[in-house]
Amino acid sequence: MRILSERDTLPYQCLGCLGTIQCNKKQLKSTVTATAIPRPNALTGATKFPMPRKLFVTTALPYANGPFHIGHIMEYIQADIWVRFQRMQGHAVHFVCANDAHGAPIMLNAEKQGIPPEQLVTQVSALHNADWPRFHISFDHFHSTHSPENTELVQSTYKALKAAKMIASREIEQFFDPVKGMFLPDRYIKGQCPKCGTADQYGDSCENCGAVYAPTDLKNPFSALSGAKPVLKKSEHFFFKLSDKRCVQFLQKWTSEAKLQSEVVNKIAEWLGDDGKNLNDWDISRDKPYFGIEIPDAPGKYFYVWLDAPIGYLASLKAYFDSGKAKANGEKRTFDEFLADDNVEQYHFIGKDIIYFHTLFWPAMLHFAGRKVPNNVFVHGFIQISGEKMSKSRGVGFGPTKYIDVGLNPEWLRYYIAAKLNDKVEDLDFNPDDFLTRVNSDLIGKYVNIASRAAGFISKKFDGKLGKPQLPKEIATEFAGAAEEVAGYFDGREFGKAIRKIMALADLANQYVDANKPWDLAKQEGKEAELLTVCSTAVAMFRDLTVYLAPVLPELAVKAGEMFNFDALDWKSTAKALKEGHEIKPYKHLMGRVDPKQIDALMEPPKEVAEAAKRSEAKADAKPANGEAAATEFALQPVEPPKPIVVAPIAETISIDDFGRLDLRIAKILDAELVVEADKLLKLTLDLGIEQRTVFAGIRSAYNPKDLVGRLTVMVANLAPRKMRFGESQGMVLAAGDGTGVYLLAPDAGAVPGMRIK
Ligand code: 2FM
Ligand code: ZN
Repeated sequence: MRILSERDTLPYQCLGCLGTIQCNKKQLKSTVTATAIPRPNALTGATKFPMPRKLFVTTALPYANGPFHIGHIMEYIQADIWVRFQRMQGHAVHFVCANDAHGAPIMLNAEKQGIPPEQLVTQVSALHNADWPRFHISFDHFHSTHSPENTELVQSTYKALKAAKMIASREIEQFFDPVKGMFLPDRYIKGQCPKCGTADQYGDSCENCGAVYAPTDLKNPFSALSGAKPVLKKSEHFFFKLSDKRCVQFLQKWTSEAKLQSEVVNKIAEWLGDDGKNLNDWDISRDKPYFGIEIPDAPGKYFYVWLDAPIGYLASLKAYFDSGKAKANGEKRTFDEFLADDNVEQYHFIGKDIIYFHTLFWPAMLHFAGRKVPNNVFVHGFIQISGEKMSKSRGVGFGPTKYIDVGLNPEWLRYYIAAKLNDKVEDLDFNPDDFLTRVNSDLIGKYVNIASRAAGFISKKFDGKLGKPQLPKEIATEFAGAAEEVAGYFDGREFGKAIRKIMALADLANQYVDANKPWDLAKQEGKEAELLTVCSTAVAMFRDLTVYLAPVLPELAVKAGEMFNFDALDWKSTAKALKEGHEIKPYKHLMGRVDPKQIDALMEPPKEVAEAAKRSEAKADAKPANGEAAATEFALQPVEPPKPIVVAPIAETISIDDFGRLDLRIAKILDAELVVEADKLLKLTLDLGIEQRTVFAGIRSAYNPKDLVGRLTVMVANLAPRKMRFGESQGMVLAAGDGTGVYLLAPDAGAVPGMRIK
């Protein structure tokens, strides 16, 4: 679960099912059913906007706190395919991104490294800027939220919101770390869970029982930064009046008009509740020390990073305009003129964890500041690896740099991701075997193969000149209808359907080649004309397929276009085939196949994880490294605050009798399973010698279920059973944790299930 809240009372969103939200006070369930969404078709022009469309497109801004993970690249690829497709339709697209530079985690991470936050941002930006071009992401501009453009836009937006009476201020009380001299965000406060008593829990939710609470509810709270006991301190905060009637009305209208995905509509309906009764005002200020943008006329107060981050979209666009690049891209107007145009469409590609920010605060903020609001927000799910959630500590996942370093072609990944994407908020599974098959069998075996089967003969036997392509009638009909169908899929972000259609056309082309056997014709006297027709027809079909694949495979399209002397970006003239006499260059291989060894290298766990696994094998009772890994390139959650090792204060003294009341036993783990509704828990079946127990343990982040089966551990056997959402937990297993990991206890050899621990 991604924690949205620091001090604001946002709902928490279940990222597994998107179906349930919880806030500190209530638990709600969605009952809203969304209606089908009509989609504009790029070619039929079924959109209210004049042609060519003018599009302002962004991806979510990555935190400048660590390198990209593969999830970032997936989002950029999705957006880039859409953008390239729109450009091919002749629409004007301005596609920007930036680093999300501010906030407490970046400030504290920099402090930990002994460098100023600006330096950390610069260093991370260099990593980001090296990575996205490798995947052929065609951002027009990549900026930073730590920039003069953003400062100016954030402060002017705030002033406009103030003038619109959408800002309130009030005093609130929060935990303050007296040693660090700073107010503590929820994630930096730890203590005992107020519900189940588990020690070392974060200030917002319990990893053991899943309870969600306010940091002030924690028992024995301590600062995760210094270990000090936090004190409650008052301070004035600024709020965006999200619960204001005007705001609720605006959001209801925007939601009904924006053609959002049905899952997103449902979420917003939950968040709003009847007439916005679930909405709370949004705390937009943070006290110093904070790495952010200062609030005008409020010394020592900064804008919360989530206020300045989306404004970074506009800051990047402004910098792009001011640099002259927009002009070079055909947009002659100024940034302000461009954004004042109602016919400019604004779209944001984002992950499912940040829907709240993009569908409530962001449109509302823009609206009340008198600015253009987003036309839509395109939400995608997360990337998983062979069905498992990515996890740095468990070595599940890989980073984009590793992908490139093991020699994998970025266009293979683009193709694979495209083939698996749809317009829903669904997770996408990267499966190495599936990847290999789709690339080798479909992309190379079907599509590239058409060119290699036909082009050689044209060069060798016909001086590189095509004859008249003659598609058989039924194939011609299929190809003729494809341009519009495929365009509709791309425009509607149904990339999987687009790829399936293109591959179905490739199958037809291959069947045609198989049926006409050019290799046989080439051996027969007097069959030259037939050979020329067959090969020219195959090349003509290959040309159309290349154009359809160009948004996905831009580099290959250019290469193929150069070799076969056609404009690979010319969507409009597909299905018209190449003319007789068209000259092509000698065929050179266009794209290689994936070598399984490359996949093995990609999936090999990072050194730290492999070494930890070796250590754990040697010790038999050790566990996979968690948190101790050095910053590997796939820092999966750069947003995660650094987790310093903090020794919690010793708890209240108890008597020997108190201790004696605990019945601690050796238990054997007979089975361990994931819990679908709780991504922090594992369901353990334990053998106590005399009976079996089921226990839900918050150790999912550190252990693979299958690695636990057969192990001995220690459990509290006389703990009252607890009803949880997914079943009854009949005791508790013991684990150590210091904020950097979870370490299950294990007895020395010789202990057997049921043995009492004294
Ligand atoms: O969740 C994140 O990674 C944020 N850095 C996304 C910000 S998107 C936009 F609002 F800037
Ligand atoms: Zn708990």
